Amino acid sequence: MTKVANILLINGPNLNLLGLREPNTYGKQTLPELIAHLEQVAKTLQINISHTQHNGEGQIVDAIHAAKETQQGIIINAGAYTHTSIAIRDALAGVTIPFIEVHISNVYKREPFRHYSYLSDQAIGVIAGLGVYGYEAALNFFNQYFME
Ligand code: DQA
Repeated sequence: MTKVANILLINGPNLNLLGLREPNTYGKQTLPELIAHLEQVAKTLQINISHTQHNGEGQIVDAIHAAKETQQGIIINAGAYTHTSIAIRDALAGVTIPFIEVHISNVYKREPFRHYSYLSDQAIGVIAGLGVYGYEAALNFFNQYFME
């Protein structure tokens, strides 16, 4: 049985404001609360989760590059860059680390500009609209995915 050791969670712009920002859309849980919860879940799954949040596109690209040697999977909510960033798409393709795209809100129920993602066709899968539970779902999925 092979088990993934390291999963990197990347949150993009404005997700540092979770809990404060548009709570009707993104919920009331803060980012530190969410991360603490995901760390607990990861521990029970015997997965090492690291988290990074960046408001800048280049910082996200750098975080993806830095993951290359050490991370077996990426969970990414690229926020608004999902809909604009060829650079983040290329970084993910460049490191060839399997990734899951997460959106807290159901982007397909929202403005048309949120319906297109530069990442989705490269992702293992996309989770949208499950609230912050989507991150936990992605973690559980990776737990299965890396079991042989
Ligand atoms: C989001 C959806 C994006 O359209 C938006 O720009 C975000 C958050 C989500 O988690 O639902 O910042 O990725």
